[in-house]
Amino acid sequence: MQQDIEKLKTEITSAIAASENLDTLEEIRVSSLGKKGSVSGLMKGLGGMTPEERKEMGPILNALKTDIANEIADRKATLEEVALNARLLEEKLDVTLPPRDRQQGSIHPISQVMDEIAEIFASLGFDVAEGPDLETDFYNFTALNIPEEHPARQMHDTFYLKPDANGDRKVLRTHTSPVQIRTMVNKEPPIRIIAPGRTYRSDSDATHTPMFHQVEGLVIDKDTHLGHLKGTLEAFLKAFFEVDAVTLRLRPSYFPFTEPSMEVDVQCSFEGGTVKIGDGNDWLEVLGSGMVHRKVLEACDLDPSVYQGFAFGCGIDRLAMLKYGMNDLRAFFDSDLRWLRHYGFSALNIPTIAGGLS
Ligand code: DAH
Repeated sequence: MQQDIEKLKTEITSAIAASENLDTLEEIRVSSLGKKGSVSGLMKGLGGMTPEERKEMGPILNALKTDIANEIADRKATLEEVALNARLLEEKLDVTLPPRDRQQGSIHPISQVMDEIAEIFASLGFDVAEGPDLETDFYNFTALNIPEEHPARQMHDTFYLKPDANGDRKVLRTHTSPVQIRTMVNKEPPIRIIAPGRTYRSDSDATHTPMFHQVEGLVIDKDTHLGHLKGTLEAFLKAFFEVDAVTLRLRPSYFPFTEPSMEVDVQCSFEGGTVKIGDGNDWLEVLGSGMVHRKVLEACDLDPSVYQGFAFGCGIDRLAMLKYGMNDLRAFFDSDLRWLRHYGFSALNIPTIAGGLS
């Protein structure tokens, strides 16, 4: 009997030692210590023994039971540790992995310049307004005091869409000025907005592309005058070109939606083949502007005897070319990776007034 017990113990312990996973170990536990297990069977046998036999065998069987339970517990701990280590190894994530050495992708100079402009005007208290690229004739022309048959319509080389059922033709907006109207119709003065975005004209050469970008500015309030316009533009151009001072020249001009209208030049020099903004003997035209025409205010249900304001419109592509020394506008839209890598900006350097624009 005692030999049988020793043999059973050896069998079970070697099976425990050989078990390679928790499932097999559990099977061993059930087949030895479980209700119908071999050790439990022997324990049951105690009941049929004489008191002497029981006295002798009781402690032996109890020891067997305890030893096997301990062995199983030890093995279980070992196997659990092995399983955990295997899982840790499999799910390992090396957070020390260095980033790719060269940054992929960059911010297009146009986007960069738009961000710079928005940042400057935000610091002057302007909101950014938006309008659709596909405009109605009313917003793009009529409400801006450019009635049908007005010669200014020809000046714009407009892309027209096919007429709808009512005979109305939508246009690809030829300028950002329709956003002025949309803003005045929807908002109570005081208004201070800029509206950067895409614009379209049927024109293409080294300085013109059929799609280009403009930024519109609009201020409407009760006492707005030309001095505010000039001061705003000076502050903007000084910040944009990152120079200590700019000198502006306001030249009389004509736009149907402003009266008076002015084209604005900045003083610059072309010495050494590069443009330097700020001082010098030359002038560079940078934008169109003026005091909002009373007819435009009236078209937006604003009373011109109460409200006045100024507006300006500026080509963003041209500003980008001037600031960052690019001379062919078409390269902006060629998607040439070498060009984009060279002229693009880091996505992580967001322009701020305090931290520097470019
Ligand atoms: N919309 C004009 C253009 O595309 C530019 C412009 C001129 C806008 C004068 C204005 C302005 O707001 O006041 O040529």
